[in-house]
Amino acid sequence: MAHRIAVIGGDGIGPEVIAEALKVVRAAGVELDTTDFDLSGARYLRDGTVLPDEVLEELRGFDAILLGAVGTPDVPPGVIERGLLLKMRFALDQYVNLRPFSLPEQGIDFLVVRENTEGTYAGEGGFLRKDTPNEIATQGSVNTRLGVERVIRYAFELAQSRPRKHLTMVHKTNVLTFSGDLWQRVFDIVAAEYPDVTTAYNHVDAACIYFVQDPQRYDVIVTDNLFGDILTDLGGAVSGGIGFASSGNLDPTHTSPSLFEPVHGSAPDIAGQAKANPIAAILSAAMMLDVLDEADAAERIRKACAAATDLTASTPEIGDAIVAAL
Ligand code: NAD
Ligand code: IPM
Ligand code: MN
Repeated sequence: MAHRIAVIGGDGIGPEVIAEALKVVRAAGVELDTTDFDLSGARYLRDGTVLPDEVLEELRGFDAILLGAVGTPDVPPGVIERGLLLKMRFALDQYVNLRPFSLPEQGIDFLVVRENTEGTYAGEGGFLRKDTPNEIATQGSVNTRLGVERVIRYAFELAQSRPRKHLTMVHKTNVLTFSGDLWQRVFDIVAAEYPDVTTAYNHVDAACIYFVQDPQRYDVIVTDNLFGDILTDLGGAVSGGIGFASSGNLDPTHTSPSLFEPVHGSAPDIAGQAKANPIAAILSAAMMLDVLDEADAAERIRKACAAATDLTASTPEIGDAIVAAL
């Protein structure tokens, strides 16, 4: 049976890299029944809509969602990012954002488990006295015990399944003494259930040093939504480049479809020039195949990506080289 996939190319380089991802998955022999969704900044500019509720409901019926990138400089910041991407992550309760990093020649092999439904992303806050000299803007961080515990538990399970069994929590407990305290307490409680997993803690500022100077120390990292966002661009930069960084927005309960997308954005600076590296999108599609019980095809795609070394080639040429390597 073909897997039913909702495809959102999006903006900028999004459609360019998604075309390569679909090409590679099909070349790996996996049958996909794809439906294209025109959800993007371009759509918003055309008709003023971002993600109508009926379209969101339709997305629930798919096995998975594959997305390129959304957001464009012609639309105010947040309209598409919040109205489309975060709306899907929240409504489909994709509470884990899993972002793997691997550069075997340098001994880098770790995953970031980023909390994906709470924190500063939840949207708590607002303006008082907007556009006056006494204006106040607040942006709160929402941390529920349930939300923190479920993502930490996921990270322990993941760490336990790996040879090194090592989990690092990254936060800023020395300053964020409310949310950080909750995270640390829950982490310690859950840790007691996983005695075979060794643990560590880094403040996020120090983690930036280690990401650059000693990323080999990491196996699995669990962190808050915003810290995870920032750290994973850095993770990409130190493990080959942002054009290699893949991600899965997962609902581990499988109640809703999960959403797979590169870590990078729409890259307006190189859009339409066939300069984008499609490997992040291809590896994201491979993550999707893992969830669709196509682990063998996923592994073959990862091996073929590792064999594609000429990154001066155009976007479709890199896709073709990976298809050839398959
Ligand atoms: P970006 O990731 O789009 O680009 C940052 C830099 O990385 C740029 O120099 C770009 O050329 C380069 N880059 C990104 N992907 C690349 C690839 N595949 N190959 C080669 N180079 C690549 O980040 P930005 O410029 O801050 O954001 C642009 C837009 O994308 C914004 O609207 C932002 O909100 C949005 N965004 C969307 C997503 C998403 O849809 N998942 C993620 C991040 C940013
Ligand atoms: C990412 C992106 C998104 C985020 C934006 C586009 C909402 O930067 O997936 O890393 O901040 O989560
Ligand atoms: Mn990001």
